Amino acid sequence: MPRIFITCRIPDSGIQMLTAAFGEQEVVVSPQDGSISPEVLLEGVRGVDALLPILTDTIDAEVMDAAGAPLKIIANYAVGYNNIDVDVATARGIAVTNTPGVLTETTADLAWALLMTAARRISESERYLRAGKWDAWGPQLMLGVDVHGKTLGIFGMGRIGQAVARRARGFDMRVLYTDVERLPAATEQELQAAFVDKATLVAESDFISIHCPLLPETTHAFGADEFKAMKQTAVLINTSRGPVVDEAALAQALQSGAVFAAGLDVYEEEPKVHPDLLACENAVLVPHIGSGSRDTRARMAEMAAANIIARLIGETPPNCVNPEVL
Ligand code: DGY
Repeated sequence: MPRIFITCRIPDSGIQMLTAAFGEQEVVVSPQDGSISPEVLLEGVRGVDALLPILTDTIDAEVMDAAGAPLKIIANYAVGYNNIDVDVATARGIAVTNTPGVLTETTADLAWALLMTAARRISESERYLRAGKWDAWGPQLMLGVDVHGKTLGIFGMGRIGQAVARRARGFDMRVLYTDVERLPAATEQELQAAFVDKATLVAESDFISIHCPLLPETTHAFGADEFKAMKQTAVLINTSRGPVVDEAALAQALQSGAVFAAGLDVYEEEPKVHPDLLACENAVLVPHIGSGSRDTRARMAEMAAANIIARLIGETPPNCVNPEVL
């Protein structure tokens, strides 16, 4: 029977699919809720046929070497797969899969939650109230910025970017987007979104929501120059990958008032958060919970399990990102 190593305690439904297919003793689950240490990972992958990592596990040549020849699939428990060296996997004939689609709406919901929270200073207001500082209603108390009728700029108009754009219609917003490729005219029309270059998006948006993958060309796509070019009343939201934003530059922009507020779900060196950001009252900071609803996390587990089962029984895994190995 093939052996499977799961690097952390994913929702039971995915584990059950694998134990039903291959037997309980063939499925090893590292018991912690979160990242595994590199040493335990190297030990755990030894001789396995399938590896199911989470997005904070770095799966490089060393890990693939430790697994050895039987390794046929790395089934990431995430839609993003920048934690896996796909070129090395491809060279070795190892399929890499992800969990696209299933977390689109849940992540778009969180982007909107951050947007509203940052715009209306919800976290800051709650901290203020709970600290017992609220002693009177005041016309100037905790003033935020309006969302309705404003311009939303979407950086990266893939599935999640489009889901965020769709929600903007309920707020009568003008939607701009930029991406490496323009959407078909019919999709633009459906979303009522206008394709612009990055400079226009940065200069004209009241809210910028980032939804691009992490690539060399998107690393620090938002840094000091972009913050200088943004409206002083603008709000930046990032639910994609931390390194797309230069955190030190963002903290400076938030402190100086160059940017009104930010809502972040992802960070450059998770789980570390830049100390200057932690000191910003106008930064809404949550711990990478974009896909964090019960239903979605269970579906992600089932999807990763389905990818493994397909690969190990000689079928095509539904979500293979390097199909050339099949
Ligand atoms: C992903 O799947 O890439 C998300 O960041 C995890 O929620």
